[in-house]
Amino acid sequence: MARKWWQDEVIYQIYPKSFRDSNGDGIGDIRGITEKLDYLEDLGVTMLWICPIYQSPMDDNGYDVSDYMALAPEFGDMDDLDELIREADKRNIKIMMDLVINHSSDEHEWFQKALEDPESRYHDYYIFKEGNERPNNWRSIFGGSVWEKVPGRDEYYYHTFGKKQPDLNWENEELRKVLFDMVNWWLDRGIAGFRIDAISFIKKDLTWSDREPDGVDRLAKCTKATRNMPGIGEFLTELKEETFARHRCVTVAEAAGVPYEKMGEFIGENGYFDMIFDFRYADLDIASGSEWFKRLPWTVKELEEKIMASQMIMQKYGWPANFIENHDQPRAASKYLKEAQDNKDAVKMMGAMYFFLRGVPFIYQGQELGMVNFERTSMEQFNDLSSIDQYQRSLEEGLSGEEALRIVNLRSRDNARTPFPWNAEKYGGFTEGTPWLNMTEEYPRINAEAQKGKEGSIYEFYKEMIAFRQHGPYSRTLIEGNIEPVRSGEDVISYRRFTEEESIYCLFNFSGKERTETLPNTGMVPIWGNLEQTHMNGKTIKLQPYQAVLIKENE
Ligand code: GLC
Repeated sequence: MARKWWQDEVIYQIYPKSFRDSNGDGIGDIRGITEKLDYLEDLGVTMLWICPIYQSPMDDNGYDVSDYMALAPEFGDMDDLDELIREADKRNIKIMMDLVINHSSDEHEWFQKALEDPESRYHDYYIFKEGNERPNNWRSIFGGSVWEKVPGRDEYYYHTFGKKQPDLNWENEELRKVLFDMVNWWLDRGIAGFRIDAISFIKKDLTWSDREPDGVDRLAKCTKATRNMPGIGEFLTELKEETFARHRCVTVAEAAGVPYEKMGEFIGENGYFDMIFDFRYADLDIASGSEWFKRLPWTVKELEEKIMASQMIMQKYGWPANFIENHDQPRAASKYLKEAQDNKDAVKMMGAMYFFLRGVPFIYQGQELGMVNFERTSMEQFNDLSSIDQYQRSLEEGLSGEEALRIVNLRSRDNARTPFPWNAEKYGGFTEGTPWLNMTEEYPRINAEAQKGKEGSIYEFYKEMIAFRQHGPYSRTLIEGNIEPVRSGEDVISYRRFTEEESIYCLFNFSGKERTETLPNTGMVPIWGNLEQTHMNGKTIKLQPYQAVLIKENE
């Protein structure tokens, strides 16, 4: 695969509503991000992915856009954004925006006009069906039917996600053209690229026929009829050719459920996108992304298998986007480390495990501090609409209220959306007002001020790890090198990164106990790790609890 400029990036994801509030209204904003650029530069990241900042009624915190070419006033205006782009550029940091074009908000002018006048051109920008009952039994991702009745008319409109997020009708050529113009307009403004939301949903099964019900609500998961459906490739090719291919930009798609055998179409040399996120290992603890109340047990070996299967497929076709957290996931320390979530060595080990995989690493805000999940005591304390839905569904499916709340606490998307703790002061220095969502209980202990510049902190570890990957003596192998799985024992994840000249074994002990591994050769040299000492003797290495170590093979 030919080298691409974006393969050298380390991307930091910002959830703007919760990053830094510069004007005291309790909601983070663009100026807040600009204020914190020095922090991000110090950490060493090279690009920011900013979750949607477009005008929106915020039913799904910006993933419901009511004007694609205007910004949400609570986040700021175009001058603020231009300033952010300029100031970031001074620090060699690029800006990636979020692109939400599977659906808009029901408050978008197009949808409002479609409701007002069924004869208007905008009516066909969305999916409407006439009749006085639901056209089929598909269940939306955020709960209930995908169909919502139009008030006062015998007509329904379609929504894959929430009721206030009607799907755009990609079958309409004029709509596609309007979307493409908008994408080009943004790329011309100097942004580096897009993270593209829910893009695997743009093509639907046009027979709209019922599916076998899969819940007590007698509905059927819509993903079977709306995700990665035949024909999606034509839309994605057109999207790429009319927009991305005309700019020097990077694209990373949220394209859940792409079958591995189709990965080449998505991220191959001529793929629709540069990278995609693979959720198979992120969602190993749940039945599916839309049914996370159904929890699954898992082992470290299963995690390793899923990660390596993903890595090997991505390597065959292209380049992955690696992550352990995002705004839809719980905190990685809580999910993957469970009782060891507060063990600093464990959190560092976990960070290193995914960071040295082949691909572009994404860091989600607060991950670099080892933030953990919260513990909420009642449903009123949640904001996220999918948490509320999953709670309801688990009750319907027979779980007790206590069990349902426990599960929502474990998996709620709000876990990652709590305001960023800058210091130990009131509301963690996030706002001078009252934050829109409660802080985590841990913020007096886990915050940026307590860690930045403090030896041994998780923040300093991330900073050093980024520098080591980006500018260290083994950078080329760690960035560009190939990857292959390496056999290891229980609780240990291991892989090898290599070029023709150099070979580096990466070992990660997920257990609180010592684990013994056998190396392929004697005379191998530890080059990096999260602990001071590496206990090696001949081919034997005794990994200490939660140790991460990179070991170079001598030529
Ligand atoms: C994506 C986003 C998520 C949002 C959904 C609907 O999955 O990451 O936050 O709720 O799409 O836009």
